[in-house]
Amino acid sequence: QDPEISPRPPMGFNNWARFQCNLNETLFTRTADAMADKGLLAAGYNHINLDDCWHVQTGRNAKQELEWNSTLFPHGMPWLGDYLHHRGFNFGIYTNAGNMTCGWYPGSQDHEEIDAKTFERWGVDYVKVDGCHMDLQHNRTYYEEFEYRYKLWHEVLTTKLKKPLVFSQSAPAYFSPNFHLDQNNTDWYRTMDYIRSTGELARHSDDIKVYGNNPTNTFEPGGHWESMMNNYIMEVRLSRYQSCGFFNDPDFLIVDWPDLSLDEKKTHFALWSSFSAPLILSAWIPDLTKEEVAYLTNKDIIAVDQDALCEQATLVSQNEDGAIDVLAKNLANGDRLLTILNHDNKTHTATVSLDRLGIDPEQSYRAKDLWTGKTTTVREEVRVKLAKHQTAIYRLSAAASRKALKVTPTGQIFNT
Ligand code: GLA
Ligand code: GLA
Repeated sequence: QDPEISPRPPMGFNNWARFQCNLNETLFTRTADAMADKGLLAAGYNHINLDDCWHVQTGRNAKQELEWNSTLFPHGMPWLGDYLHHRGFNFGIYTNAGNMTCGWYPGSQDHEEIDAKTFERWGVDYVKVDGCHMDLQHNRTYYEEFEYRYKLWHEVLTTKLKKPLVFSQSAPAYFSPNFHLDQNNTDWYRTMDYIRSTGELARHSDDIKVYGNNPTNTFEPGGHWESMMNNYIMEVRLSRYQSCGFFNDPDFLIVDWPDLSLDEKKTHFALWSSFSAPLILSAWIPDLTKEEVAYLTNKDIIAVDQDALCEQATLVSQNEDGAIDVLAKNLANGDRLLTILNHDNKTHTATVSLDRLGIDPEQSYRAKDLWTGKTTTVREEVRVKLAKHQTAIYRLSAAASRKALKVTPTGQIFNT
């Protein structure tokens, strides 16, 4: 992995969690237009990524190239790429390292180079390479086949094209302890060892729960908050793997799911930003409400996500009998981030002592509440009342001198 390919976590849009295979050209052009109109593009959301099911299902053309479904994409992919580029977006696409995509469209196995060059010709900047339907060749195990394919993709994307494409990787998720239970932990750790050098992003957790689970994609309630928390819990143990240019990917931000409260959606955004995770929205952007757009474009929180240290916040304590998670990380200007999550179903007042944050509790600090923009002076502890599923997020700076905070190692709970 070359830290220049994606120096900061990507921000943008992907259709999957919201629309699944219910996609067409208009979905992406209208999304791009709305992202620009609503100020999301200006806030940094500059990727428009297609997920699965854009293909001709039956196969490849005579030159062995993938083809787009011309009923769904009447003007074609190069046209769509131009449309997006002219408006200031990057163009992302989806393929699969196995011989079929997860949705049973043609996969890229044994066609890596031809497919990468096809994508390049279409103007693609970013490719998600998923991992369903892997054909095991030359007596390779499932783990070995994956490693072979991802290393091949890395080589193709970085050496065979005029400019490398961003490589969004799914592999670790297929070996994660809570996914393929038949895989042992050795395969998971071996995957984590190479995955930082092959691409820019890596998924570890299950898919965030999609909007509908049915062909018509109508909304099916239930389990969305839990799915968000599952991915958060999985990801919070992986901080040490992240560095500028390689980002852990806890999956999409789900913004317009009717059974998530505004507080829950803001929590999702605050946690993913504290992680410096990719901020990829899966939603019907033209109908986002003012409140939704307002939190998604919060400049102070986006600055935390895009911070030049690229640190992923770690869990420094769990308070109130486990109802409250306290996360912290360093920021590039010497400030320290403090994020406090109430994942319980009732209101709690959280008291966080500053020495849990690895900073001198005897000093006073300026604490900027990144939701309200208000700054207060704190000493020894931060106290905040949080309703069900709310998250507070503060930037702490040394109050008296403008000197950078002195940070000592914190007591991390997870040591994976
Ligand atoms: C897998 C991935 C999802 C999505 C679908 C498409 O489930 O994890 O993000 O790409 O495949 O079929
Ligand atoms: C902070 C804000 C609240 C609310 C929550 C959301 O606590 O002060 O208004 O938005 O975050 O989690």
